[in-house]
Amino acid sequence: MNGTTATQSIILADLEIEGRQRQVLLHAPKNGFFYVIDRATGELISAEPYVDVTWARGIDMATGRPIINPEARYGERPVIVKPSAAGGHNWHPMAFSPATGLAYFPVFDSGMVYALDPNFRPEPGRMQQLGVSTTSFPEQRARLNEQVRREARAWLTAWDPVTQREVWRQPYSQRGSGGVLVTAGDLVFQGTIDTTFAAYHARTGEKLWEMPVQQVAIAGAMTFMVDGVQYVAVNAGWGGGRTHGPPASELGLQLSQSARLLVYRLDGDVALPPLSDVAWERTRIVEPPADTGAPAAVIARGERLYAETCAGCHGANARGGIKDLRMMTAETHAEFNDIVLGGIREERGMVSFAEFLSPEDAAAIHAYLIRRANEEWSGEDIR
Ligand code: HEC
Repeated sequence: MNGTTATQSIILADLEIEGRQRQVLLHAPKNGFFYVIDRATGELISAEPYVDVTWARGIDMATGRPIINPEARYGERPVIVKPSAAGGHNWHPMAFSPATGLAYFPVFDSGMVYALDPNFRPEPGRMQQLGVSTTSFPEQRARLNEQVRREARAWLTAWDPVTQREVWRQPYSQRGSGGVLVTAGDLVFQGTIDTTFAAYHARTGEKLWEMPVQQVAIAGAMTFMVDGVQYVAVNAGWGGGRTHGPPASELGLQLSQSARLLVYRLDGDVALPPLSDVAWERTRIVEPPADTGAPAAVIARGERLYAETCAGCHGANARGGIKDLRMMTAETHAEFNDIVLGGIREERGMVSFAEFLSPEDAAAIHAYLIRRANEEWSGEDIR
């Protein structure tokens, strides 16, 4: 299945299973199954779906392999397969409480429309999705995409790894809520997609506290003690998965807010400064270079190359992502070719694309990015 990773957190726990004390690891990867594995022997103890799964009927306990549904071997006709490439659970940290015996993590219940593209040819260095044809059966595809949008659900789950059952859930309006912390005091903390930081009762899911934080804190929170006082801290910055998700028009101010570390204690009384308007935020961003005046065809070419080569990390429409390329400094603009073709930032995770892009290609992408920066700067940024 497309986009299935198992890089999600792995939690070590001691559980009593069928009368036996077991040292296990808990894992809820993108593929929709919650795995309980004996961490001493590697034996698969159980694996059950924590979300709607259509690509497999279950996990074969003898082999640990999925029992794949024949329908999941799709052809040229578009079909919905669940979970989507975003996963039933993405990278956001899961938490486990030895006190409640429950694991807590954000769940995304959604399908994705797949179809084989008979004309698919692999192009090295470009982001391509085998099986995500965008040309065949347009009406059926549109109908199924609409169904996917309509039926998508997201929630925070409290999952019992022994019985492999959900104990409670906290529904959200859409996906994108953050990682989870659970404390010995039976509190579950999570940054929510509704731009709040919330605490739930670890046993019942009852919402005990919630505060607007002007941002979606997607990191997992952490807790520590100083002089007998317990603190809860969470990073609330921009970046990560959500920038690839909803349309830009829905993101609004959050996108331009700078990162914050929010730290709480019981009698804390500091208020957040009011959410300023975009114009105020924009004063914090470097002014982009003057538009290159490149012909529309060059910008369009840059846009296409960007979408195929860079968007996976730097965000759709050059918005958000690992580093928002509309906000490059003058120095970075000057080094653009050295970075993109010369590979001078390789050890920081930005490799050279010289193998896949000619200097003209890089120039077209650069011109497109400067155009996008100017659109953002002038407030005409509607994409
Ligand atoms: C696999 C992920 C990935 C892809 C794909 C990718 N980049 Fe990057 N890029 C990074 C990372 C990580 C950094 C941050 C490096 C650093 O800390 O300076 C970065 C940084 C940059 C920077 C420096 C930005 C700044 O403000 O400092 C530029 C310019 C850049 N990338 C251009 C591109 C272009 C153009 C493409 C497409 C041809 C591209 N990148 C594709 C991961 C990626």
